[in-house]
Amino acid sequence: MHKQERIMSGMRPTGKLHLGHYMGVLKNWLSFQDDYECFFAIADWHALTTKFDDTAGMKQNIIDVALDWLACGINPEKSVIYLQSFIPETAELHLLLSMITPQNWVERDTTLKDMVKMLRGNIEETEGAQAYSGLVSYGLLGYPVLQTADIIQFNASLVPVGKDQLAHLEISRDIVRRFNHLYKTALIKEPQPKLTETPLLKGIDGQKMGKSYNNDIKISDSEEITTKKIMQAITDRSRIKKTDPGHPELCEVVCPYYEIFADEETVKKQRYNCENAVWGCAECKRELASIINSQFGEIRQKRLELEKTPDYVREIIKSGSERARIKSAEFLREIKNSMNLY
Ligand code: TRP
Ligand code: SF4
Repeated sequence: MHKQERIMSGMRPTGKLHLGHYMGVLKNWLSFQDDYECFFAIADWHALTTKFDDTAGMKQNIIDVALDWLACGINPEKSVIYLQSFIPETAELHLLLSMITPQNWVERDTTLKDMVKMLRGNIEETEGAQAYSGLVSYGLLGYPVLQTADIIQFNASLVPVGKDQLAHLEISRDIVRRFNHLYKTALIKEPQPKLTETPLLKGIDGQKMGKSYNNDIKISDSEEITTKKIMQAITDRSRIKKTDPGHPELCEVVCPYYEIFADEETVKKQRYNCENAVWGCAECKRELASIINSQFGEIRQKRLELEKTPDYVREIIKSGSERARIKSAEFLREIKNSMNLY
Protein backbone atom coordinates (compact mmCIF):
# COMPACT_ATOMS: atom_id res chain seq x y z
CA MET A 1 0.00 0.00 0.00
CA HIS A 2 1.18 3.46 -0.79
CA LYS A 3 1.34 5.55 2.33
CA GLN A 4 0.08 8.92 1.28
CA GLU A 5 -0.29 11.04 4.33
CA ARG A 6 2.64 11.96 6.44
CA ILE A 7 2.62 12.00 10.21
CA MET A 8 5.13 13.81 12.34
CA SER A 9 5.44 13.79 16.09
CA GLY A 10 8.07 13.94 18.77
CA MET A 11 8.96 13.66 22.40
CA ARG A 12 11.45 15.51 24.52
CA PRO A 13 14.11 13.20 25.96
CA THR A 14 13.69 13.79 29.67
CA GLY A 15 14.13 10.24 30.93
CA LYS A 16 12.61 6.81 30.77
CA LEU A 17 9.01 6.77 29.59
CA HIS A 18 6.13 5.73 31.82
CA LEU A 19 2.88 3.82 31.30
CA GLY A 20 1.06 7.11 30.65
CA HIS A 21 3.33 7.70 27.65
CA TYR A 22 2.59 4.21 26.45
CA MET A 23 -1.19 4.36 26.78
CA GLY A 24 -1.48 8.00 25.70
CA VAL A 25 1.07 8.34 22.92
CA LEU A 26 2.97 5.25 21.87
CA LYS A 27 -0.07 3.04 21.39
CA ASN A 28 -1.35 5.61 18.91
CA TRP A 29 1.94 5.83 17.10
CA LEU A 30 2.01 2.05 16.77
CA SER A 31 -1.37 2.11 15.10
CA PHE A 32 -0.21 4.65 12.50
CA GLN A 33 2.87 2.84 11.29
CA ASP A 34 1.21 0.72 8.62
CA ASP A 35 -1.02 3.38 7.12
CA TYR A 36 1.09 6.52 7.21
CA GLU A 37 4.58 7.61 6.51
CA CYS A 38 5.73 8.40 10.04
CA PHE A 39 8.52 10.60 11.34
CA PHE A 40 9.19 10.44 15.05
CA ALA A 41 11.66 12.89 16.54
CA ILE A 42 13.60 12.68 19.75
CA ALA A 43 13.41 16.42 20.33
CA ASP A 44 16.62 17.18 22.20
CA TRP A 45 16.61 20.87 21.26
CA HIS A 46 13.13 21.17 22.69
CA ALA A 47 14.41 19.55 25.89
CA LEU A 48 17.08 22.26 26.02
CA THR A 49 14.47 25.03 26.03
CA THR A 50 13.94 24.33 29.72
CA LYS A 51 16.79 22.01 30.68
CA PHE A 52 19.75 23.95 29.32
CA ASP A 53 21.25 24.05 32.82
CA ASP A 54 20.99 20.31 33.35
CA THR A 55 22.38 18.45 30.36
CA ALA A 56 24.48 15.80 32.11
CA GLY A 57 21.94 13.06 31.41
CA MET A 58 21.05 14.13 27.89
CA LYS A 59 22.85 11.39 25.93
CA GLN A 60 21.46 8.68 28.19
CA ASN A 61 17.97 10.18 28.03
CA ILE A 62 18.09 10.09 24.24
CA ILE A 63 19.08 6.43 24.27
CA ASP A 64 16.40 5.67 26.86
CA VAL A 65 13.67 7.19 24.71
CA ALA A 66 14.90 5.24 21.69
CA LEU A 67 15.00 2.02 23.76
CA ASP A 68 11.46 2.57 25.00
CA TRP A 69 10.17 3.30 21.50
CA LEU A 70 11.87 0.29 19.96
CA ALA A 71 10.86 -2.06 22.76
CA CYS A 72 7.24 -0.95 22.43
CA GLY A 73 7.28 -1.74 18.73
CA ILE A 74 8.08 1.48 16.91
CA ASN A 75 9.65 -0.16 13.92
CA PRO A 76 12.59 1.56 12.20
CA GLU A 77 11.76 -0.28 8.99
CA LYS A 78 8.32 1.26 8.89
CA SER A 79 8.86 4.62 10.59
CA VAL A 80 11.67 7.12 10.63
CA ILE A 81 13.10 7.49 14.12
CA TYR A 82 15.49 10.40 14.31
CA LEU A 83 17.31 12.80 16.58
CA GLN A 84 16.28 16.41 16.12
CA SER A 85 19.79 17.84 16.52
CA PHE A 86 21.15 15.53 13.79
CA ILE A 87 19.31 17.65 11.24
CA PRO A 88 20.87 21.11 11.08
CA GLU A 89 18.39 22.00 8.32
CA THR A 90 15.69 22.11 10.99
CA ALA A 91 17.57 24.91 12.72
CA GLU A 92 17.91 26.82 9.48
CA LEU A 93 14.22 26.43 8.79
CA HIS A 94 13.47 27.54 12.33
CA LEU A 95 15.48 30.68 11.73
CA LEU A 96 13.65 31.45 8.50
CA LEU A 97 10.26 30.87 10.14
CA SER A 98 11.24 33.07 13.07
CA MET A 99 11.54 36.00 10.67
CA ILE A 100 7.92 35.76 9.58
CA THR A 101 6.42 34.91 12.98
CA PRO A 102 4.99 37.95 14.78
CA GLN A 103 6.21 38.20 18.33
CA ASN A 104 2.72 38.39 19.79
CA TRP A 105 1.80 35.04 18.25
CA VAL A 106 4.30 33.22 20.40
CA GLU A 107 3.51 35.38 23.39
CA ARG A 108 -0.13 34.34 23.36
CA ASP A 109 0.63 30.61 22.96
CA THR A 110 -1.19 29.13 25.94
CA THR A 111 0.78 25.89 25.82
CA LEU A 112 3.94 27.95 26.19
CA LYS A 113 2.40 30.04 28.96
CA ASP A 114 1.69 26.84 30.87
CA MET A 115 5.31 25.77 30.46
CA VAL A 116 6.53 29.12 31.75
CA LYS A 117 4.13 28.93 34.69
CA MET A 118 5.44 25.51 35.63
CA LEU A 119 9.01 26.66 35.32
CA ARG A 120 8.28 29.68 37.45
CA GLY A 121 6.55 27.52 40.07
CA ASN A 122 9.49 25.14 40.34
CA ILE A 123 12.02 27.91 40.61
CA GLU A 124 10.15 30.09 43.07
CA GLU A 125 9.74 27.09 45.33
CA THR A 126 13.43 26.34 45.40
CA GLU A 127 15.31 29.57 44.77
CA GLY A 128 12.88 32.45 45.10
CA ALA A 129 11.23 34.69 42.54
CA GLN A 130 14.42 36.49 41.52
CA ALA A 131 16.01 33.41 40.02
CA TYR A 132 13.19 32.97 37.58
CA SER A 133 13.78 35.80 35.12
CA GLY A 134 16.88 34.26 33.54
CA LEU A 135 15.14 30.97 32.97
CA VAL A 136 12.71 31.88 30.27
CA SER A 137 15.13 32.01 27.40
CA TYR A 138 14.87 33.37 23.90
CA GLY A 139 14.92 29.74 22.79
CA LEU A 140 11.93 28.82 24.93
CA LEU A 141 9.92 31.61 23.33
CA GLY A 142 10.72 29.99 19.99
CA TYR A 143 9.41 26.59 21.12
CA PRO A 144 6.34 26.57 18.84
CA VAL A 145 8.35 27.95 15.92
CA LEU A 146 10.92 25.18 16.27
CA GLN A 147 8.12 22.65 16.49
CA THR A 148 6.67 24.13 13.30
CA ALA A 149 10.01 23.57 11.60
CA ASP A 150 9.98 19.95 12.83
CA ILE A 151 6.62 19.39 11.23
CA ILE A 152 6.82 21.25 7.97
CA GLN A 153 10.30 20.10 6.97
CA PHE A 154 8.60 16.85 5.96
CA ASN A 155 5.49 18.69 4.81
CA ALA A 156 3.56 16.50 7.26
CA SER A 157 -0.20 16.94 7.28
CA LEU A 158 -1.04 15.18 10.51
CA VAL A 159 0.39 15.66 13.96
CA PRO A 160 -0.74 13.33 16.75
CA VAL A 161 -0.53 15.36 19.92
CA GLY A 162 -2.32 15.66 23.21
CA LYS A 163 -4.80 18.43 23.93
CA ASP A 164 -2.12 20.28 25.87
CA GLN A 165 -0.21 20.81 22.63
CA LEU A 166 -3.05 22.26 20.56
CA ALA A 167 -2.04 25.89 21.04
CA HIS A 168 1.41 25.16 19.60
CA LEU A 169 -0.17 23.56 16.58
CA GLU A 170 -2.52 26.47 16.09
CA ILE A 171 0.56 28.67 15.73
CA SER A 172 2.07 26.20 13.29
CA ARG A 173 -0.98 26.55 11.07
CA ASP A 174 -0.88 30.34 11.36
CA ILE A 175 2.79 30.38 10.37
CA VAL A 176 2.13 28.10 7.40
CA ARG A 177 -0.73 30.28 6.19
CA ARG A 178 1.39 33.38 6.56
CA PHE A 179 4.28 31.81 4.67
CA ASN A 180 2.08 30.65 1.81
CA HIS A 181 0.42 34.05 1.66
CA LEU A 182 3.61 36.13 1.86
CA TYR A 183 5.42 34.17 -0.84
CA LYS A 184 2.35 33.47 -2.95
CA THR A 185 2.67 29.75 -2.88
CA ALA A 186 0.79 26.67 -1.75
CA LEU A 187 4.01 24.89 -0.91
CA ILE A 188 3.43 24.08 2.72
CA LYS A 189 0.54 21.96 3.99
CA GLU A 190 -1.37 23.18 7.02
CA PRO A 191 -0.71 20.55 9.66
CA GLN A 192 -3.77 19.21 11.42
CA PRO A 193 -3.81 17.74 14.91
CA LYS A 194 -4.64 14.08 15.04
CA LEU A 195 -6.46 13.73 18.31
CA THR A 196 -7.32 10.36 19.68
CA GLU A 197 -9.31 9.76 22.79
CA THR A 198 -6.95 8.05 25.15
CA PRO A 199 -7.64 7.27 28.76
CA LEU A 200 -5.74 9.51 31.12
CA LEU A 201 -3.58 7.42 33.40
CA LYS A 202 -3.17 8.95 36.83
CA GLY A 203 -0.07 8.56 38.96
CA ILE A 204 -0.24 6.10 41.85
CA ASP A 205 -0.96 9.02 44.23
CA GLY A 206 -4.01 10.05 42.18
CA GLN A 207 -2.30 13.15 40.72
CA LYS A 208 -1.22 13.58 37.11
CA MET A 209 1.36 10.93 36.25
CA GLY A 210 4.77 12.47 35.79
CA LYS A 211 8.40 11.75 36.39
CA SER A 212 8.85 14.88 38.46
CA TYR A 213 6.00 13.94 40.78
CA ASN A 214 7.62 10.62 41.56
CA ASN A 215 4.33 8.81 41.07
CA ASP A 216 4.90 7.05 37.77
CA ILE A 217 5.40 3.46 36.70
CA LYS A 218 8.02 3.21 34.00
CA ILE A 219 7.64 1.01 30.97
CA SER A 220 11.05 -0.38 31.94
CA ASP A 221 10.27 -0.99 35.62
CA SER A 222 10.78 -4.58 36.73
CA GLU A 223 7.89 -6.73 37.91
CA GLU A 224 9.02 -6.27 41.49
CA ILE A 225 9.15 -2.50 41.25
CA THR A 226 5.83 -2.32 39.42
CA THR A 227 4.18 -4.43 42.10
CA LYS A 228 5.75 -2.38 44.87
CA LYS A 229 4.51 0.87 43.32
CA ILE A 230 0.99 -0.44 42.82
CA MET A 231 0.87 -1.66 46.42
CA GLN A 232 1.45 1.98 47.43
CA ALA A 233 -1.44 3.33 45.35
CA ILE A 234 -4.17 5.19 47.18
CA THR A 235 -7.48 3.36 47.55
CA ASP A 236 -10.96 3.87 49.00
CA ARG A 237 -9.98 5.64 52.21
CA SER A 238 -13.17 4.64 54.01
CA ARG A 239 -12.18 1.00 53.77
CA ILE A 240 -10.17 0.30 56.88
CA LYS A 241 -10.56 -3.39 57.56
CA LYS A 242 -10.53 -6.12 55.00
CA THR A 243 -14.08 -7.03 56.02
CA ASP A 244 -15.37 -3.51 55.23
CA PRO A 245 -17.12 -3.45 51.87
CA GLY A 246 -15.24 -1.20 49.44
CA HIS A 247 -16.50 1.49 47.09
CA PRO A 248 -14.93 1.18 43.65
CA GLU A 249 -16.09 4.70 42.72
CA LEU A 250 -14.03 6.10 45.60
CA CYS A 251 -10.97 4.16 44.60
CA GLU A 252 -9.33 6.72 42.35
CA VAL A 253 -6.34 4.83 41.06
CA VAL A 254 -6.74 1.07 41.29
CA CYS A 255 -10.23 1.07 39.80
CA PRO A 256 -9.44 3.18 36.71
CA TYR A 257 -6.30 1.12 36.20
CA TYR A 258 -8.42 -2.03 36.11
CA GLU A 259 -10.63 -0.41 33.52
CA ILE A 260 -7.65 0.49 31.39
CA PHE A 261 -5.61 -2.68 31.70
CA ALA A 262 -8.06 -5.51 32.46
CA ASP A 263 -10.76 -7.12 30.34
CA GLU A 264 -14.43 -6.56 31.06
CA GLU A 265 -14.94 -9.77 32.93
CA THR A 266 -12.00 -9.16 35.22
CA VAL A 267 -13.29 -5.66 35.95
CA LYS A 268 -16.66 -7.09 36.90
CA LYS A 269 -15.05 -9.63 39.19
CA GLN A 270 -12.85 -6.99 40.77
CA ARG A 271 -15.78 -4.68 41.49
CA TYR A 272 -17.80 -7.52 42.96
CA ASN A 273 -14.91 -8.65 45.12
CA CYS A 274 -14.37 -5.11 46.34
CA GLU A 275 -18.00 -4.29 47.09
CA ASN A 276 -18.54 -7.57 48.89
CA ALA A 277 -15.28 -7.57 50.79
CA VAL A 278 -14.19 -10.79 49.13
CA TRP A 279 -10.87 -9.17 48.35
CA GLY A 280 -8.80 -7.00 50.57
CA CYS A 281 -7.08 -4.08 48.85
CA ALA A 282 -3.74 -5.85 48.93
CA GLU A 283 -5.15 -8.80 47.02
CA CYS A 284 -6.85 -6.49 44.57
CA LYS A 285 -3.64 -4.61 43.92
CA ARG A 286 -1.53 -7.73 43.60
CA GLU A 287 -3.92 -8.96 40.94
CA LEU A 288 -3.69 -5.62 39.10
CA ALA A 289 0.10 -5.69 39.26
CA SER A 290 0.14 -9.14 37.74
CA ILE A 291 -2.15 -8.00 34.90
CA ILE A 292 0.13 -5.05 34.12
CA ASN A 293 3.26 -7.14 34.45
CA SER A 294 1.97 -9.69 32.00
CA GLN A 295 1.01 -6.95 29.51
CA PHE A 296 4.43 -5.36 29.60
CA GLY A 297 6.45 -8.55 29.99
CA GLU A 298 7.41 -8.86 26.36
CA ILE A 299 8.19 -5.18 25.95
CA ARG A 300 10.41 -5.24 29.01
CA GLN A 301 12.18 -8.35 27.83
CA LYS A 302 12.84 -6.74 24.48
CA ARG A 303 14.14 -3.59 26.15
CA LEU A 304 16.57 -5.59 28.26
CA GLU A 305 17.84 -7.26 25.09
CA LEU A 306 18.24 -3.93 23.30
CA GLU A 307 20.08 -2.44 26.28
CA LYS A 308 22.84 -4.92 25.60
CA THR A 309 23.43 -3.47 22.14
CA PRO A 310 23.65 0.31 22.51
CA ASP A 311 25.64 0.55 19.27
CA TYR A 312 22.74 -0.97 17.38
CA VAL A 313 20.36 1.56 18.93
CA ARG A 314 22.69 4.44 18.07
CA GLU A 315 22.92 3.10 14.53
CA ILE A 316 19.12 3.14 14.19
CA ILE A 317 19.03 6.76 15.34
CA LYS A 318 21.85 7.65 12.98
CA SER A 319 20.38 6.01 9.90
CA GLY A 320 16.89 7.32 10.65
CA SER A 321 18.36 10.80 10.97
CA GLU A 322 20.11 10.44 7.63
CA ARG A 323 16.84 9.51 5.96
CA ALA A 324 15.02 12.38 7.63
CA ARG A 325 17.79 14.80 6.75
CA ILE A 326 17.49 14.09 3.04
CA LYS A 327 13.77 14.91 3.10
CA SER A 328 14.36 17.98 5.19
CA ALA A 329 17.12 19.33 2.94
CA GLU A 330 14.97 18.84 -0.16
CA PHE A 331 12.10 20.74 1.33
CA LEU A 332 14.30 23.51 2.70
CA ARG A 333 15.51 24.07 -0.85
CA GLU A 334 11.94 24.64 -1.97
CA ILE A 335 11.27 26.93 0.98
CA LYS A 336 14.32 29.00 0.09
CA ASN A 337 13.29 29.15 -3.54
CA SER A 338 9.88 30.47 -2.49
CA MET A 339 11.59 33.15 -0.42
CA ASN A 340 13.94 34.10 -3.25
CA LEU A 341 17.00 33.11 -1.27
CA TYR A 342 20.13 31.61 -2.78
N1 TRP B 1 6.34 19.57 22.18
C1 TRP B 1 6.14 18.15 22.11
C2 TRP B 1 5.92 17.64 23.54
O1 TRP B 1 6.41 18.21 24.47
C3 TRP B 1 7.29 17.41 21.50
C4 TRP B 1 7.55 17.78 20.06
C5 TRP B 1 8.66 18.31 19.55
C6 TRP B 1 6.64 17.59 18.98
N2 TRP B 1 8.56 18.48 18.21
C7 TRP B 1 7.33 18.07 17.83
C8 TRP B 1 5.34 17.09 18.88
C9 TRP B 1 6.69 18.06 16.58
C10 TRP B 1 4.73 17.09 17.62
C11 TRP B 1 5.41 17.57 16.48
O2 TRP B 1 5.27 16.64 23.71
FE1 SF4 C 1 -9.82 -0.24 45.50
FE2 SF4 C 1 -9.51 -2.82 45.04
FE3 SF4 C 1 -9.42 -1.83 47.54
FE4 SF4 C 1 -11.72 -1.91 46.21
S1 SF4 C 1 -10.46 -3.70 46.85
S2 SF4 C 1 -10.95 -0.20 47.42
S3 SF4 C 1 -11.06 -1.49 44.12
S4 SF4 C 1 -7.97 -1.42 45.89
